[in-house]
Amino acid sequence: MNRLVIVANRVPNPGERGATAGGLAVALKDALAKREALWFGWSGQIAEATAADPVETRIGRITYATLDLGREDHRRYYLGFSNGSLWPTLHYRLGLAVFAREDHAGYRAVNAAFAAALAPMLRPDDTIWAHDFHLFPVGAALRALGCRQRIGFFLHVPFPPAGLFCALPRAAELLTDLAAYDVIGVQTEDDAVNLRAALAGVGQEEAAARVHAFPIGIEAEAFTTLAEKAIGKRETERFRQSLVDRALIIGVDRLDYTKGLPQRFCGYGQLLARFKTHRSKVTYLQVAPVSRGDVAQYRALRRELDEWVGRINGQHAEPDWAPLRYMTRAVARPVLAGFMRMARVGLVTPLRDGMNLVAKEYVAAQDPEDPGVLVLSRFAGAVAQLPGALLVNPLDPDEIAEALDQALTMKPAERKARWEECIVSVRRDGARAWCREFLSRLEGANDA
Ligand code: G6P
Repeated sequence: MNRLVIVANRVPNPGERGATAGGLAVALKDALAKREALWFGWSGQIAEATAADPVETRIGRITYATLDLGREDHRRYYLGFSNGSLWPTLHYRLGLAVFAREDHAGYRAVNAAFAAALAPMLRPDDTIWAHDFHLFPVGAALRALGCRQRIGFFLHVPFPPAGLFCALPRAAELLTDLAAYDVIGVQTEDDAVNLRAALAGVGQEEAAARVHAFPIGIEAEAFTTLAEKAIGKRETERFRQSLVDRALIIGVDRLDYTKGLPQRFCGYGQLLARFKTHRSKVTYLQVAPVSRGDVAQYRALRRELDEWVGRINGQHAEPDWAPLRYMTRAVARPVLAGFMRMARVGLVTPLRDGMNLVAKEYVAAQDPEDPGVLVLSRFAGAVAQLPGALLVNPLDPDEIAEALDQALTMKPAERKARWEECIVSVRRDGARAWCREFLSRLEGANDA
């Protein structure tokens, strides 16, 4: 079988290469197990200048090739254009987007540097798969260097309506870059409709026909096993004891303004204020590992959340009960899986999300005999695969409070019926199917 080349801004850290991998590495696990692979991207390190030659490490059949980014390039490409301009725009938050020509130039320069470093490593029959919004132009940059291989692109985040996207300066250039790809994958049908319209708007009708939705999934069975194994372990049991029989609500999100955390905290506050029977009977644990702490909007959000936590605990706590437990440190996946299994409610209310795998993990973690309830934003891509969830508009704290009350008082039979509606597609539309479908579309692409 020919080699698979993954190009992504993030490459698994050396310590995470192998059994403990997360994110994209988990989703790609199967594809990478079957064939030789090269994974190319940023080392995660910042140096004086962007390296020209990648550092290569080989583990089994996977070669990791990474570049350090120069301080200036990191600031303009990663903090500036990727996270300051593109991320908010793609999540429908134009009001939070900033734009600077130097950042845009830095973004293009890093994409060109990636292409220049990768091109000499390529074999004629490689299949190349580029990932996410950091790398819109990398395919076009590779083509400019003469690469004729199949190149696919997958956007892990939402794609907004064309009019909104095109308000971003230089949007047309990004769309033209996408035309270099043989297959352009997005998470949902809505994203596909939006991206096709945006491409057609800049005269790229042919590229528009190469846009398809491939909803990403999880390795459900592996996650269920992780959750089962966590029960009875010291960390899980200590946590259980600390709850003293109170129902647990759990939220797990990167600390990001797309996740709707202030509205979620406000909604929980409304639950305690309006539905008094839950007072002292429920504990909400929010795990929100700090993310992109060097970007101004993320620092502001962190301060806002600190205030919310103080306000809610200050207003509602009892001497022996803190209603909201909030941590900005990461919790190890195996431990989280156990916490999810214990939780009566999984609270996942992003304002916009490409897919949201936490929602699927919460479902996979449940005990089939006594499952909890998923409260889910109607603006998460995962909605289409989770018909048993209680849907909320994440902007409406009252609706969140009402859904929490409904979830906390739901009879076991309804909980079970709703969970069964969700687990079917979480198992069926897993990470493997996602990879297989994207790659078969890509590898069939030139033969069509
Ligand atoms: C989202 C993006 C990924 C990104 C991740 C973590 O899931 O779609 O591309 O890697 O967030 O963000 P970071 O900026 O730390 O890579």
